Amino acid sequence: MNALAARRRHPAAIAILLMLGLFLTGAAYAAVAPKPADATTQALPAQSVEEGKALFRANCASCHGLNAEGRATGNGDKIAGPSLAGVGAAAVDFQMGTGRMPMAAPGVQAPRQDEIKYTDEEIASIGAYIASLAPGPEVPSEEAVDPTKGDPARGGELFRVNCAMCHNFAGAGGALTRGKYAPALNDVTGKHVYEAMVTGPQNMPVFNDANVKPEDKQDIIAFLHTLDEQENPGGLTLGSLGPVSEGLFAWVFGLGLLIACAVWLGSKSA
Ligand code: HEC
Ligand code: HEC
Repeated sequence: MNALAARRRHPAAIAILLMLGLFLTGAAYAAVAPKPADATTQALPAQSVEEGKALFRANCASCHGLNAEGRATGNGDKIAGPSLAGVGAAAVDFQMGTGRMPMAAPGVQAPRQDEIKYTDEEIASIGAYIASLAPGPEVPSEEAVDPTKGDPARGGELFRVNCAMCHNFAGAGGALTRGKYAPALNDVTGKHVYEAMVTGPQNMPVFNDANVKPEDKQDIIAFLHTLDEQENPGGLTLGSLGPVSEGLFAWVFGLGLLIACAVWLGSKSA
């Protein structure tokens, strides 16, 4: 008894009690606190990470390095493939889901390819492997990319402000510098549109959630979806290149026709 009472006055007693209290509160909180809602989607089974790693080594490491650290070609200066740490599962899903990766041949741009040689499971496990290296954007939920849940009119406005300078106001695509181009956006799935925005492939900037909120992204997806549904009522689209090409067409052909008529009438009366 006496010994305990003496220790109670020890200068370290308060500190020890405080630590004990904090520790107990922390442990109790951890035991009862609700788990974060997305913990189940984030914690991918270790098995799929292992599978993804094996698939990655077989199909991607030649360019991206054995541990996705990036790799330079023999000459030393040209990068064969960038480091993939931190690009996230969304980048893998976008690049592989649109057939861009594995890149078929070196070039200024990895183009979209119709034939996808990998199953969804294989793509997901490579995504899990890349996400296990460093945190990055995740593959969006089906709900977040459902075009029927967005407002296409608002999406159109957002598209004209953020995307039209490269992709054209009707999403028809356009040329960029040095032989690169922004592709046409017809029939791209909502998921891939979302992933393009959060990962910014090649020359495209990243539109993170602070710039373009998830609701805005959904509106943009809804807008692009309505473009896909739209038939062109007026015959030829003239490449959907916008008012300039349409104006030029009217100018050259319309005015040309009028001048031709005038010349013809003039020659008749003479
Ligand atoms: C022939 C070389 C080559 C192969 C093979 C290849 N890549 Fe790539 N990869 C590149 C190059 C070059 C880039 C950068 C330019 C680009 O985005 O097209 C790139 C970019 C990427 C990006 C985008 C990174 C970012 O910053 O958003 C991802 C993700 C990716 N590759 C994944 C893969 C996966 C997964 C595989 C295997 C299935 C693969 N790549 C195979 C050359 C390659
Ligand atoms: C600075 C020019 C630029 C801007 C601005 C831009 N993009 Fe892109 N975008 C590109 C380029 C370049 C590519 C091609 C990348 C590639 O091939 O890997 C691309 C690719 C895409 C793709 C993939 C298409 C496919 O065929 O798979 C989608 C979807 C896309 N962009 C949507 C958008 C949206 C939505 C916005 C606006 C929020 C936007 N982009 C803004 C340049 C741009």
